[in-house]
Amino acid sequence: MWAIVIILASCFFLVTTNTNTQSPSDNARRKLVSLIGRVYEADGHRYASRDHHGNPMNCIKIIKRTGSDDFIGVYHVYKDNVPRVNLAISNDLLEWTWLKELAVHGSQPTIAVPADQPQGYIVAWEETPSSHLNFAFYMTWDDLKTGNAEKMHEVKRTLSACAEGTPNIYGEPTLDNIDVGFHFSHDCTLDRQARATLRNFSMWTDIRKQPDIDNALIHYFVRGNIRDRDALFDFDGYAFTIIEGQFQPKSMNTWRIFVFDPQTNTADQVPLVTERRSQTFTNPTMTLTTLNGQRILLITLFIRPEKAGQGETGQLIYYRKF
Ligand SMILES: *[C@@H]1O[C@H](CO)[C@@H](O)[C@H](O)[C@H]1NC(C)=O
Repeated sequence: MWAIVIILASCFFLVTTNTNTQSPSDNARRKLVSLIGRVYEADGHRYASRDHHGNPMNCIKIIKRTGSDDFIGVYHVYKDNVPRVNLAISNDLLEWTWLKELAVHGSQPTIAVPADQPQGYIVAWEETPSSHLNFAFYMTWDDLKTGNAEKMHEVKRTLSACAEGTPNIYGEPTLDNIDVGFHFSHDCTLDRQARATLRNFSMWTDIRKQPDIDNALIHYFVRGNIRDRDALFDFDGYAFTIIEGQFQPKSMNTWRIFVFDPQTNTADQVPLVTERRSQTFTNPTMTLTTLNGQRILLITLFIRPEKAGQGETGQLIYYRKF
């Protein structure tokens, strides 16, 4: 009985805080959701992105190449039914030159520059089969583009007997301290959020589930998987996470995109509007960077074929000046 009262009371509290209370991060979150949502207003965009070899650039994460105006992206390509992590380079975010296959049996890659090794690159991905996380460190740009890893660390699963994957790197990592977001398969049925730290490129620590993120989407009646995400450290002074949620289990056409606000533990669904009104989006990333000296918000999303506008299925890359 008291449990019910407490649950009702806490629900009421949740509803009232969501609707009535102003949070200092509200304006920044609304601005971010609006920038992401209006794809048709992007300052540059490409649907169904491919590298110059014609490989689809699935689930790409893009960052600046240190000390240059070029962008580099890591993505996965299926060959012989095996996903492989690939690397490409671009100077305009739209035309991409393939450079190197970095890993076989790898998908959903992400990339970051460690603050204490600014010439180097950390790449993390989901290793298959038996999904789990894998990390590589490349000392220099030459090492990255030739696939010559200085360190590697494969992480044993700790939260799921079935799958852990879709890594992102939060904030500014150092080589000895990498703050990692990922999903785990809860009871081997539903994907849920988790976070951990890779220390010394050897110790997987501070492993914790992230029910606040899950609950913010469940609040929207997301009943299926809550899986891939990416995060900004400082957007107008606040941290935000972009994340995919599946409204109905096993229903591929119900994947949608949300922005989670860790300041308020709430999420907003992003009303994405593309030229031809695609509906189903997955694998979001976001990056704050510059293009020709202009500050941009760079977004990548995968548009699934279900309910896709003509010609829009595949990897979408777009950016907004702001
Ligand atoms: C850090 O990693 C190195 C290998 O790269 C290992 O020799 C050393 O023992 C590790 N340190 C700790 C505290 O685990």
